[in-house]
Amino acid sequence: VFLVGAGPGDPDLLTLRALHVLADADVVFYDELVTPGVLDRARRGAEQVFVGKRRGEPGIGQDEINRRLVEAARAGRRVVRLKGGDPFIFGRGGEELEYLRQAGVPVVTVPGITAALGCAAEAGLPLTFRNEASRLTLLTAHRAEDAAAIDWSGLGDPQTTVVVYMGLASAAAVRDGLLAAGRDGATPAAVLARGTRPDSQAVVGRLDQLPALAADVGEGPAILVIGEVVARSTPWQAAELAALLAREAA
Ligand SMILES: C[S@@+](CC[C@H](N)C(=O)[O-])C[C@H]1O[C@@H](n2cnc3c(N)ncnc32)[C@H](O)[C@@H]1O
Repeated sequence: VFLVGAGPGDPDLLTLRALHVLADADVVFYDELVTPGVLDRARRGAEQVFVGKRRGEPGIGQDEINRRLVEAARAGRRVVRLKGGDPFIFGRGGEELEYLRQAGVPVVTVPGITAALGCAAEAGLPLTFRNEASRLTLLTAHRAEDAAAIDWSGLGDPQTTVVVYMGLASAAAVRDGLLAAGRDGATPAAVLARGTRPDSQAVVGRLDQLPALAADVGEGPAILVIGEVVARSTPWQAAELAALLAREAA
């Protein structure tokens, strides 16, 4: 089984190894975050099996996915397990790898560009910056309860860039956690939605406005980025320029 990172959406961000493996596949098991443009790179004739969750539907479950991967591999098929971003970043790739190992199925992992990196590149947002951002933290906060359970105390340092996956619905709890840790409410913040896809959207503002920024993008998938470096991003600079021009015109 090839456990393959599909990247954040744009097929041009697939690795060459991912392309080779897709071009050789007999069957591709893919998640909801995998875009049609990426799936198009699979071998014509390869079976494509959706194993993700569609909105409002429960999905087939991790146990069943594991079982199907083993079954296909034991049938001698070249199996690609295609996951959005990188398989080992909040993608349960580790669990699948361990299950396959225990079943005696050889696994090769092909890394992908994770959402934080793809979205940051698109937004011209350097996640680290000399003397300004010396630490990068990736965390997930799917529900407000998850955010409440996080130990935010280490993230008060103004030199830390924080990227939150699955954080659209818990933006208020993320804001509260970071403010309680000592981050300034005026810290630049961004919500980067549907990054590298044709309908991608970036909204920028301040940490204390995070829930409103999250509400502005509407549809996910989206990441929240909090840190001084957000002020260096293309959307932030564009907003500053627009404000300056408006002031001059007034
Ligand atoms: C289950 S996690 C999977 C992450 C994935 N393994 C990765 O490395 O990017 C899903 C979350 O990833 C983020 N995400 C994935 N693709 C994205 C994209 N194109 N734009 C913005 N966020 C994205 C969102 O926070 C989304 O809720």
